[in-house]
Amino acid sequence: MAKKIFSGVQPTGNLHLGNYLGAIKNFVELNNEKENECVFCVVDLHAITSKQDPKELKDNILETVATFVASGINPKKSIIFNQSSVSAHSEVAWILSCIARMGWLNRMTQFKEKAGKDKEKASVGLYSYPVLMAADILLYDSTHVPVGDDQKQHLELCRDIAQKFNNDFNVYDFFKVPEPLIKKEFSRVMSLKDGSKKMSKSELSDQSRINLTDSDDQIINKIKKAKTDPLPMPSNINELDKRLEAKNLLGIYSSLTDNTLENSVKKFSKMNFSDFKEQLAKELVDKISPISIEIKKLLKDKDYLNKILLEGSEKASDIASKKVKKIHEIMGF
Ligand code: AMP
Ligand code: TRP
Repeated sequence: MAKKIFSGVQPTGNLHLGNYLGAIKNFVELNNEKENECVFCVVDLHAITSKQDPKELKDNILETVATFVASGINPKKSIIFNQSSVSAHSEVAWILSCIARMGWLNRMTQFKEKAGKDKEKASVGLYSYPVLMAADILLYDSTHVPVGDDQKQHLELCRDIAQKFNNDFNVYDFFKVPEPLIKKEFSRVMSLKDGSKKMSKSELSDQSRINLTDSDDQIINKIKKAKTDPLPMPSNINELDKRLEAKNLLGIYSSLTDNTLENSVKKFSKMNFSDFKEQLAKELVDKISPISIEIKKLLKDKDYLNKILLEGSEKASDIASKKVKKIHEIMGF
């Protein structure tokens, strides 16, 4: 069945293997299914929930577009645009913020993590961030939203907002209630330095992540130094919950090779970590290196990247403005 796909990635630099395996690789697969209509958004309004340098933000927006295209998203088939260029996103976020309840937002674990101990100093935007995300999704009548595991709660909130709006205004099925598309087996890539922490752009140590722009040598080195435990490779999938680093590395291998975790455990059972790491590094270099080369090539042609954004914004605006018009009618504006 044809799906309407929407997803977003923040242009905050350092796109990494977690973004690739958790999100972008799935975007490419969905883009390649002929009947799907896909919208991929560079969510620059979300990025400013933490302080951004304007010049770096501009560069990071283009780098995110380059990463989408280098990974295999076809800008002729899928819409690629940046959020701030379609004002409907901010407008509908306001309207939906009058639908969403404080109690719902208070439960969001990502806000708690990001705001840290000093909540009083967090921006209002960081708090209402999931409402903007709901606006992104609902404006395009999206049926499916491919994301990493960390966005699951935000999607549930989006579904609640859609349902409450439809109920409050008696407009059955006006906002489509979207389904998350989260990989079942391995949807959270962990830090190479600590198997209990998510691989993240903001982690200080560059050794904790594989960046999509890393050279082959950097990838090989990071895998060599990745944390493991003193035992040989696990021989049974049940061991993995106690061996987080082994689980993460095997998960990365499985995801890259489109294999199940169970098969990968069998394949490397009782092997030395160093022998497994060699094969993992080879697989990573095979998959990441062509993307990295293509990103660098595309970044030399900023006009082309800007043209993708401009054309994408026009198409996105067309869809979004029609939805906004209907929202105005429903609201009595
Ligand atoms: P962000 O960089 O926060 O905008 O995330 C973009 C996409 O990458 C979202 O769908 C996230 O869920 C996904 N993502 C980010 N970090 C990871 C990770 N460590 N593992 C899996 N998916 C991730
Ligand atoms: N909040 C998402 C993240 O940080 C990015 C995002 C913004 C998004 N709007 C979205 C993802 C809409 C999916 C759909 O990863």
